[in-house]
Amino acid sequence: MAKYELVAALVLGLSLLGLTSAGDPDILTDFVAPNGTVVDGSFFTFTGMRSLINAEPPTTFTVTKASAKEFPALEGQSVSYAVLEFPGGAVNPPHTHPRGSELLFLTYGTLEVGFVDTTNTLFTQTLQTGDMFIFPKGLVHFQLNTNQTGNAVAVSAFGSASAGLVSVPVAVFETNIDSGILAKSFNTTVDTIQALKAGLAPTPPTKA
Ligand SMILES: *[C@@H]1O[C@H](CO)[C@@H](O)[C@H](O)[C@H]1NC(C)=O
Ligand SMILES: *[C@@H]1O[C@H](CO)[C@@H](O)[C@H](O)[C@H]1NC(C)=O
Ligand SMILES: *[C@@H]1O[C@H](CO)[C@@H](O)[C@H](O)[C@H]1NC(C)=O
Repeated sequence: MAKYELVAALVLGLSLLGLTSAGDPDILTDFVAPNGTVVDGSFFTFTGMRSLINAEPPTTFTVTKASAKEFPALEGQSVSYAVLEFPGGAVNPPHTHPRGSELLFLTYGTLEVGFVDTTNTLFTQTLQTGDMFIFPKGLVHFQLNTNQTGNAVAVSAFGSASAGLVSVPVAVFETNIDSGILAKSFNTTVDTIQALKAGLAPTPPTKA
């Protein structure tokens, strides 16, 4: 009897493990189209990046996304893209993508990148144009263009149609978590927390 219970517990454990390590749910059809959509070549085409070609480089860090929200044909396909444009000196502050790993391809300039794993080990790299870097799923990571005068441009692929974004500064300091709780958590004063809250820019700009 105990043996069967052990087996049952193992099976349950393994299936839970499977659930937590899974990517986007598998779909039972070739693709998913919203009700009433005309499904033709255009449905599977995203033209939202055309506006970036030959455009003036942005003056603040800018992300242009092609995820399921902007490009509905990605629903159920477990992939998406974002184009990241960094003016000189621009940072993409520490953040996570809870539902997808990120494979960044640096197409222009140089970029400092890094992530922290679940043992709190920091991994950093200076990327040259043409390099790729993988940010494992769900881990806190950041990017910085250390060149003060030149831009950097990267194209990131995600292993999810809707990888999600949790910005650490926004989640911690811009969601009305009580300043007293944050002061205790950071072993500092409420004044320091309020100074941090006051100094933060609104949510980072996102296009499309
Ligand atoms: C939309 O899809 C739902 C669920 O598949 C279906 O019940 C409904 O009739 C559809 N509506 C239209 C307008 O096609
Ligand atoms: C910074 O960018 C400028 C303009 O693209 C470039 O000329 C310069 O070589 C870059 N500096 C470094 C250190 O990469
Ligand atoms: C909090 O900071 C004080 C110094 O300001 C230090 O003595 C103390 O060890 C810190 N407590 C923790 C839990 O880090």
